[in-house]
Parts: sequence; C-alpha cells; structure tokens
Amino acid sequence: MKNRILAGAALLGALALVATGCASSGNGAGGDGGDELVTVGFAQTGSESGWRSANTESMKEAFSEDNGFELIFNAADNDPAAQIAAVRDFISRGVDAIVIAPIVEDGWDDVLQEASDAGIPVVLEDRTVTSSDDLYASWVGLDFKKEGVTAGEWAAENFGDTPTKMVVLEGTTGSAPANDRAEGFDEGIEGTAIETIDSQTGDFTRDGGKTVMEGFLQKYGVDGIDLLYAHNDDMALGAIEAIEAAGGVPGEDIKIVSIDAVHDGMQALVDGKINFIVECNPLLGELAAGLVTDVLDGNDVEKENYLEDQSFTQEQAAEVIDSRAY
Ligand code: AHR
Repeated sequence: MKNRILAGAALLGALALVATGCASSGNGAGGDGGDELVTVGFAQTGSESGWRSANTESMKEAFSEDNGFELIFNAADNDPAAQIAAVRDFISRGVDAIVIAPIVEDGWDDVLQEASDAGIPVVLEDRTVTSSDDLYASWVGLDFKKEGVTAGEWAAENFGDTPTKMVVLEGTTGSAPANDRAEGFDEGIEGTAIETIDSQTGDFTRDGGKTVMEGFLQKYGVDGIDLLYAHNDDMALGAIEAIEAAGGVPGEDIKIVSIDAVHDGMQALVDGKINFIVECNPLLGELAAGLVTDVLDGNDVEKENYLEDQSFTQEQAAEVIDSRAY
C-alpha cells in the first residue's frame, strides 16, 4: 500500500508517526527518558552530496538519545559491498532495528533475509531495493520517477520542437534515483526534438559532475551542447565550474535542469546559472524514526511512504531561498 505525505504536512506527518510510537511504549524510543535506549543501526550511502549531508543530519537528530535511541551510524562511501558488511555487523551486534539508505537497488536479498531470520526489523529510507517487500518492514522517501518526469516536462515545455542537443549527468549507476530519474525524464520529453548526445555517471558528486562535463565540453564544445540534465544539484554545480572554465555561460549558453533543491543549487538557480530544479526532500529523519518506533511497538505501518516534492523556476527560488531548511 502507498501512503502519500504532502510536503506541507510532512512535519505534522512525522510528528504523528512519532506520537503514535510514543503512545505505546513497548520500547525506549519516544523520549520519556525512563526506558532503555532503542539501538538502531543506520547504513547510510556515504557523503557524496549536499543532499546526503542534510539527510544524515536529519537522521542523527531524529535518532538521538533525547528521543530514546542509540544510533550506530555507518557511511559506506558509496561502496555497496561495504554497506552490506555494515548491515551484517549491525545484525551480529543484535541491534533492535536497522535503517538502510541502499546505495544500489540490487543485491539485498541475502542480507535482508539474514536480518529477518535474526528477528531484526529493517526500515528503508530514501532509496529503494529490488528485493521482495516481505524482507523489510517499510520504506520512506521520494518519488524519483515523478521527479524525472517533472524535470523532463520542463525541458519539453522550454525546448519542445526546437532541435536540442542534451547531455546527461547520471547518478550512481544501479541506484534507484539514477534509474528512476532517467526513466521519468525520458517519459517527460517523449515526442520532443530533444536528443541525448551523451550520458555518463558523475556518481552524484560535484567532482564527478565537473570531470564528466569537462569531457563532454572537450568532445562537443560549448556550442555543441544546448541542455544539461543533471540527476542532482551537486553534479550540476560541478558542471557549472567546467562550463565557466571552458568560457561558456551556464544557464544561458547551456541551459541546466537538476534535482534536489539543496541550498547551493537553489543559489545557483537564483544566480541564473541553473534554469529549473525539482526538489528531493532530504528531511526524512522524523518519519524514519516514527516508522521504527511503530514497527517495534507492533503497530501497523504502510509499506511505502512518499513525501511530495516541489519544483522551482529562477523566480520562485528567489522567493523561497531564505526560508528553506536545507
Ligand atoms: O537518493 C537521493 C539522491 O542521493 C540525491 O538526489 C542525491 O543528491 C544523493 O546523493
């Protein structure tokens, strides 16, 4: 079953989930201070982007001792094998629950089965897996495909029938956001004259975006590229450096559409260097903590919990940039 949480109501939703957990205190989480702490192992992807830093901060805040948790944090530096090893370590330590932001979608069956055999519930946050949903309790995150569709529809509206040469900076190969944002964007530009002349992974990092864009610019020149679709803001920010170093004007010579709406991306949008950004909200901590608490208390939870994203033009970004939390 799918549960959609409106962005405006996200905090209320989070509080409601946490409150549900507090009401039945079968475990320590909930902040009443009287019970033992609930031990949670969190397997984070790494620290590849501004989005990831905001997500880590949100998770650490929500899974704090004040809220009744002892958090064992692991960041796997974008290495899927290291992330699976971290989950195995959580299992061997006998934690009460495990939260995973899976780097890639595939390869989770065995370790999720091991957690299930050990009686340790798993909640996924942010990214999804291809394993059977019987192997985890719940997931909370964003609709990556819809983000791609929204970005593609913006490109279709702005380029439409005009022959357009586009390059793509893909996220981490095999990750849910890279797969779904590619699929969604293709759907959004279907029937237009936008042609993908090159597409490579920049691994969701600023350095990766810069290096790959430098290669595109050497191959096609500033004049040979009309549009850049970056699967996240950090890669777009790296690409901006490469375009400027090549003597181009980002946002004008090469139009840029990206995803995340982290502060540096929004600033580049306000500055006219990016043309459109689709949001991906990283503040998932309270929702994830609420789900863990509910699962441990034996309450029913939805299998899929979606937050709604917004999107921003340059003008809209200028209006909201000072009021945003990340
Ligand atoms: O999974 C979410 C993606 O991961 C964000 O868009 C990106 O910035 C991050 O690294």
